[in-house]
Amino acid sequence: MSKFTALLGAAILAISVSGTMTTSVQADEAKLIKKGSKVFKKCKACHVPDEAKNKVGPHLVGIIGRKAGTAEGYAYSDAAKAKAAEGLVWDEANLAAFLEKPRKFLKGTKMAFGGLRKEKDRNAIIAYFKSLAPAKEEAPKEEAK
Ligand code: HEC
Repeated sequence: MSKFTALLGAAILAISVSGTMTTSVQADEAKLIKKGSKVFKKCKACHVPDEAKNKVGPHLVGIIGRKAGTAEGYAYSDAAKAKAAEGLVWDEANLAAFLEKPRKFLKGTKMAFGGLRKEKDRNAIIAYFKSLAPAKEEAPKEEAK
C-alpha cells in the first residue's frame, strides 16, 4: 500500500468514526426526548407544553430560559410572584431544582406536585422542553414578512 492510500484510508476511517459518533449522540438525544415526553404525562393534567393555554398551572411554552411568573393571564401564588420579583429565570439548573422538590424550591407554591426525584427524569423532561422550543438565545430569528 502506498503512503497515499494509507493516509486516505486513515482519513476515511476518521470521517466515518466521527460520523457514527454524531449519529449515536443524536439517537441518544432522540431517546431522551421521547422519555421526556413520557415523563411529561405527570404534568399534563395541569400544564400545556406547546400552546399558550393555561390550565390549573401556567402554560409552559418556551419554559427553558423563561422568566418565572410571566405566563400571561395566569394567577400565580404569592410565593411564585415573590420569586419572580427577585428575577428568577427558569434556566436548566433552576428548573431541575424546582422539579426535584417543588415545595422546597418555591416555598408556598400552589403547584401540587411531589417532584421528579430521579435525575434521569429531570434530564429527560428538560431535553423534551428544549426540543419543543430551543432556548431563547439559540432560537432562529423569524423572518419578517
Ligand atoms: C396538580 C397540578 C400540577 C402538576 C401535576 C404540575 N404542575 Fe407545574 N404548576 C402548577 C401550578 C398551580 C403552578 C403555579 C405555581 C404557583 O403559582 O405557585 C405551576 C408552576 C409551574 C412552573 C413555573 C411556571 C412559571 O411560569 O413560572 C413550572 C416550570 C412547572 N409548573 C412545571 C411543571 C412540570 C414540568 C410538571 C411535571 C413534572 C408539573 N409542573 C406538574 C400545577 C401543576
